[in-house]
Amino acid sequence: MKRIQVLGVLGLMVLATGTMSIAQGTAEATYKAKCQMCHGAMGAGDTPAGKAMKVQPLNKSPEGDMVAIIKKGKGKMPAYDGKLTDAQIKDVATYIHTSLLN
Ligand code: HEC
Repeated sequence: MKRIQVLGVLGLMVLATGTMSIAQGTAEATYKAKCQMCHGAMGAGDTPAGKAMKVQPLNKSPEGDMVAIIKKGKGKMPAYDGKLTDAQIKDVATYIHTSLLN
């Protein structure tokens, strides 16, 4: 009985980490496909398109603000409301905070 419970917990942990890495992969893919051409691989805005639009390096603005900007757009940045799901927008904001700016 005990052993089965342990196995169950281990199984859940494997499932959870598996799902997390999939979510991370998706947010990374979203960033690369939709954001990187302007914001650069590391968020510095150092691409030809980024320089042309005077994109500033992404900063640590709170994740909630970032979600709002991604939804509504800012200056020359297109709005992503409707193009990305709320979950994708949140994931990509989390990705910027946890992977790009660290
Ligand atoms: C066509 C070029 C372009 C694309 C594509 C683009 N952005 Fe932007 N982004 C801009 C510009 C221009 C600004 C406004 C100027 C600035 O603040 O750097 C901006 C601003 C931002 C800001 C606000 C920065 C701040 O703190 O003021 C965030 C966050 C952001 N973009 C995230 C994203 C994400 C995430 C994506 C992909 C879903 C994306 N952008 C796609 C050009 C772009």
